[in-house]
Amino acid sequence: MNNPIRIGLIGCGDIAVTRHLPALQASPQVSIAALCDADLDRASQLAVQYEVALATSDYTQLLDDPSIDAVVICTPPWVTPHLTIASLHAGKHVLCEKPMAVDLETAMKVREAEQSSGYQVQIGFTYRHGPLLETLRDWIRDDKLGSPLIYRLGIFDEVWDPQGNPEHYERISRTMERGSPSIHDGAHMADFLNFLTGSAVADVQSFGLRTRSEFPSSNYDVSVIRFENGDIAKVEIGWFMPRFPAGEFEVVGPRGIAIFDRTAQTVQLKSETTTQTVKLEEEYFESCFRIQLDKFIRSIRTGERFVPGTKEGIASLALTKAIEKSIQER
Ligand SMILES: NC(=O)c1ccc[n+]([C@@H]2O[C@H](COP(=O)([O-])OP(=O)(O)OC[C@H]3O[C@@H](n4cnc5c(N)ncnc54)[C@H](O)[C@@H]3O)[C@@H](O)[C@H]2O)c1
Repeated sequence: MNNPIRIGLIGCGDIAVTRHLPALQASPQVSIAALCDADLDRASQLAVQYEVALATSDYTQLLDDPSIDAVVICTPPWVTPHLTIASLHAGKHVLCEKPMAVDLETAMKVREAEQSSGYQVQIGFTYRHGPLLETLRDWIRDDKLGSPLIYRLGIFDEVWDPQGNPEHYERISRTMERGSPSIHDGAHMADFLNFLTGSAVADVQSFGLRTRSEFPSSNYDVSVIRFENGDIAKVEIGWFMPRFPAGEFEVVGPRGIAIFDRTAQTVQLKSETTTQTVKLEEEYFESCFRIQLDKFIRSIRTGERFVPGTKEGIASLALTKAIEKSIQER
């Protein structure tokens, strides 16, 4: 067996604690060599819990360590690109959280740093990984639904509960100062669409609703996206409502419908003649984060192109920025 890849993690907040650190700990292929957070106490407490030798609030200390092979970056997206560029120039491969930046100019600088350094970036489009989305893509490629297709997506993950969960309220409010939910959760949605349609975007029409005047951006966005191959997507992404409709993810075509049900952990194809269901047995989030990490490690070891990489990160951001522009023009 190969030596474990030595990983440093920067940004020990919610997603690092709930998903990345458990995935890293569970992988026999990595060892966690260092933890960094602007809040040193947070990094130090986690270093004790995960038995990590170095805890620091200074990311350069982590990047200066030649024994560290790669970095997982879980900071807010307005901080992430600067850390990604520094990591690449320090000779580390990077798995960075989505979106890779909040503007395209900065995202292009990350791509340039990747090209000039010879090290690579994988973007944390976690939910494209695994058998459910791959099955859905195969059904579409194999023309099981016919064409053109209508994608119906709804993502409603951040419930309004400022009293019950003030820390969450602060985090999401800070995030909305850097763009509406379409820029943030929309990064996953845009990646799904780019992954599934394989077609360029032709036109975007979006509307944003701001349900409280103190919100720095719209908190409920509705978009209609037209693709060059004739597909259409209708996307709703909402934050900070007390109650939400169930999320949706359906693809409708002239030959049938495919339904991705995150709660049931299934994708189902219903055509005129057959019904086919694929069910994921492993817990959905755990599975996606495990496969994401496995792919990162495999690409480091083989030198193959990191996928989803900066190309996919920029494609996703280009779509969500087009949504933002359309909202602002109204
Ligand atoms: N893939 C997914 O499913 C998923 C889910 C949630 C969040 N995210 C993404 O993960 C990122 C982080 O989100 P979160 O919810 O964990 O945020 P968070 O605010 O809980 O955590 C961010 C952490 O980064 C630290 N930090 C900020 N600047 C730093 C710096 N310069 N050096 C070191 N540490 C620094 C903060 O102290 C904080 O602990 C965001 O980009 C978000 O979009 C992805």
